[in-house]
Amino acid sequence: MGHHRDESDETGGLKRAKISPEVTRRGFLGGTATAGATALAGIAGSAQEALAQEMDAAGGETVDVSLVINGVSYERSLDARTTILDLLREELDLTGTKVGCNHGQCGACTVLMNGTRINSCLTLAAMADGARITTIEGLAEGNGDLHPMQAAFLEHDGFQCGYCTPGQIVSAIGCVKEGHADSEAEIREYMSGNLCRCGAYKGITEAIIEARDATRSSDVGGAS
Ligand code: FES
Ligand code: FES
Repeated sequence: MGHHRDESDETGGLKRAKISPEVTRRGFLGGTATAGATALAGIAGSAQEALAQEMDAAGGETVDVSLVINGVSYERSLDARTTILDLLREELDLTGTKVGCNHGQCGACTVLMNGTRINSCLTLAAMADGARITTIEGLAEGNGDLHPMQAAFLEHDGFQCGYCTPGQIVSAIGCVKEGHADSEAEIREYMSGNLCRCGAYKGITEAIIEARDATRSSDVGGAS
């Protein structure tokens, strides 16, 4: 499996970008969350099936993968079925990226790949060979200063238990960089792939509005 293929049609993160406005509006703005979650589950399910097929095809092969993660180059020989999520957490001990559903439905595992949001649980590391990955660990400055989006989540109580938060913050930066944060409604629509069981959506939306301008002018995670 080469890395020159455009995997965007098969990965959960990009599936999120393709969710139709009708689906997300009905589910998250005007209707019931249950209807939206069901629709999202269906979309994510097809991505999961595609991943399962890729994994079956890969068998037990080993592949050499080179990635730049948070500015650090890594080269690893991996089982071809290793997802980026597994690589981050199990191989590299970068456990800030969380496992939620592991099926492309919750967004807890969101990272930026070449500046674009993906669900790392649905993206094989082999597909990402040569890519630049940004995780929650890569957002703060070297001196410990938080990224403006991290600071805004703190300021606006954009979390309760915090489990979804790394994915929310990374996704929020992606959302702003994609140009989909012009209004509260747009933010809610384009953040709808990141679920929060604690229902901290109000604070999350406020934080994104607060950090929007600073994030637009920040190059963390956004340059491609
Ligand atoms: Fe990847 Fe839920 S979407 S863990
Ligand atoms: Fe608990 Fe979002 S803060 S799941």
